[in-house]
Amino acid sequence: MPRPRSATLPPAISLALALGLTACGGTPVHGTPGAAGVRDPYFPKSGNGGYDVTHYGLTLSYDPKDKRLKGTADITAKAGQDLSAFHLDLRGMDVTGITVEGHRATWSRAGQELTVRPRKDLDKGRTFRTTVHYSGTPETITDPDGSKEGWLRTADGALALGEPTGSTAWFPGNHHPSDKASYDVRVTVPEGLQAVSNGELRSETTTKGRTTYVWHTAEPMASYVATLAIGHYDITRSTTKKGLPVYVAVDPTQAKASKKVLAGIPGIIDWEERTFGPYPFSSTGAIVDRPEDAGYALETQNRPVFPGAPDTGTLVHELAHEWYGDSVTPKSWRDMWLNEGFATYAEWLWQEDHGGDSADKIFHALYEGDYYEPVDNSEVWAFPPATPPDAAHISDPPVYYRGAMVLHKIRQLVGDKTFFAILRGWAATHRHRNADTADFTAYAENAAPDKDFTGIWTDWLHGKAKPDHP
Ligand code: TRP
Ligand code: ZN
Repeated sequence: MPRPRSATLPPAISLALALGLTACGGTPVHGTPGAAGVRDPYFPKSGNGGYDVTHYGLTLSYDPKDKRLKGTADITAKAGQDLSAFHLDLRGMDVTGITVEGHRATWSRAGQELTVRPRKDLDKGRTFRTTVHYSGTPETITDPDGSKEGWLRTADGALALGEPTGSTAWFPGNHHPSDKASYDVRVTVPEGLQAVSNGELRSETTTKGRTTYVWHTAEPMASYVATLAIGHYDITRSTTKKGLPVYVAVDPTQAKASKKVLAGIPGIIDWEERTFGPYPFSSTGAIVDRPEDAGYALETQNRPVFPGAPDTGTLVHELAHEWYGDSVTPKSWRDMWLNEGFATYAEWLWQEDHGGDSADKIFHALYEGDYYEPVDNSEVWAFPPATPPDAAHISDPPVYYRGAMVLHKIRQLVGDKTFFAILRGWAATHRHRNADTADFTAYAENAAPDKDFTGIWTDWLHGKAKPDHP
């Protein structure tokens, strides 16, 4: 059928044509706006619907003196629907310009939602590039549980931490764990300062008193484990026995206290590879800032962040997250026990293998209420690990300890051989992807089809009360 002339079209379509609101081929406006969130049960505004990011190219500059961050975010994404508009998540900062596929776009802001209207609708399946120019003083965010994240200013620079929503403070994006992407982070700072991020350092160049560091992360990364540490750091490079690059950055005031424990990284990675399977990324390491710089350690991809020298248990825990959390990433914030239960159990296994208490002994001590760590034992039974009551409790003791106890119950049921096959197989099957509690229970059941897991799931994973028997 020949294309009708506009004079013969119904008025609404003529108007659309007059306003230039057509896609190529003369199809009238066909897209709808992408959703403002991905219905996360705990953080409904986190993430956005209608597209999937494949790559972030961030070009940033920061000067600790004026505390201002200037950024350009180049976001490559694939449309999951016909899009007339889409959301990005960004808190604070001034947006000064946005283009989509090189064409100027309009935008509006409401809280952390940055709504972008491209000049033309984007067809479903299309890969498109959005460039956001922004600047300002990035915010420190207080979590529902009261801890600080986002952009933390330190004595000599800054530290960006993103769990669960902090990455919204320093770059626009699809800030939900379900949308992982590769990253290139290019950071310019005053000469004499270091900038450390995830992945591998590609280059370091100084011109006119400013140094640019280029970091590359090829493997998929959730934005909550993206990091940036700016300041003075002592840098140590080494390799594991298998040749994996180790890049360690330590605040000079923490150098003495952390030297010995950090020298253990290659050995920990070797042990974790034997226990959990092949290391999932192209490099490892650590970032150690001062104790007052952050309230907790975080499993930032490739190199976890520590506020002050960690102990070996904490180092084992954060590095275990490279498998459980960073490579196998939760589908939603409800699935945190898949991160914290596994990383806690990794600590128990490490002790068991290195002359400390067995995991079984720790399990029973926790059950009996005489566990030796600074945790009020009654808190362990406050709620089932698979369903924290709300966003303020996603990193509470049940998620860590009772989560680890679920794994120990599985080990008791299936025996060591099958149990370690489950640990490794789970990491291998969902490598670089996302998974939830139902994926895990199905995986475990499948690995031991002759065993009955019902009691573990109902009493330990989903049950409200403390189980009647250890
Ligand atoms: N994931 C960190 C750890 O290794 C703890 C943590 C920091 C956390 N911030 C969080 C956990 C926010 C859940 C939500 O234990
Ligand atoms: Zn953890």
